[in-house]
Amino acid sequence: MSFTVAIDGPAAAGKGTISREVAAHFGFAHLDTGLLYRATGRRTLDGTDPVEAARTLTPEDLEADDLRTPDVAQAASRVAAVPEVRAALVDFQRAFAMRAGGAVLDGRDIGTVICPDAQVKLYVTASDDIRADRRHKELTGKGMEISLEQVLEDLRQRDARDSAREAAPLKPAEDAVLLDTSEMSIDEAVASAIATIDSVRGRG
Ligand code: DC
Repeated sequence: MSFTVAIDGPAAAGKGTISREVAAHFGFAHLDTGLLYRATGRRTLDGTDPVEAARTLTPEDLEADDLRTPDVAQAASRVAAVPEVRAALVDFQRAFAMRAGGAVLDGRDIGTVICPDAQVKLYVTASDDIRADRRHKELTGKGMEISLEQVLEDLRQRDARDSAREAAPLKPAEDAVLLDTSEMSIDEAVASAIATIDSVRGRG
């Protein structure tokens, strides 16, 4: 039996950490779907056509070292607005969601488009300032020189583009549980997500 957890929300809200820890807790597989768009966006930086890049993604593309840079994040957000790019990535994500033993997928449109029948849908948010602060610490912790203002600007630009696009825009599914992590530690946010999933599994 498959069991799918869909975790959506804006950039740097804590989706990645929550998804990884939830997956580890329940023994589910985890797919960070942002990586598919980042790998596609990265390939366009050397001139590859976005649709061609999405259609011919390889496992090695998903392991490139520089997928976490702000430039690649912006490129990801741009290619993610192209409907044919999104279409090329649907089957892989749906197959992953259906794997036996359970799966957690995190992204922007998992609960709305990729897995509308997911057993659990979470929409993770936090205030702009807190998201920027967390992402800034993460990037500077890796040795990158970037100002807090620039990180904030990058997140706002991406969120605006990701929310305004016609194809699978960022928005909560109607039946998503909202999780605002602004005032929470990572442990509290993870515990809250686990409690939500437990309550659904208890009902099943
Ligand atoms: O989650 P992330 O920051 O790694 O995602 C990078 C970009 O990819 C994000 O700005 C929008 C796009 N994306 C998307 O459109 N749909 C998804 N399911 C995941 C990411």
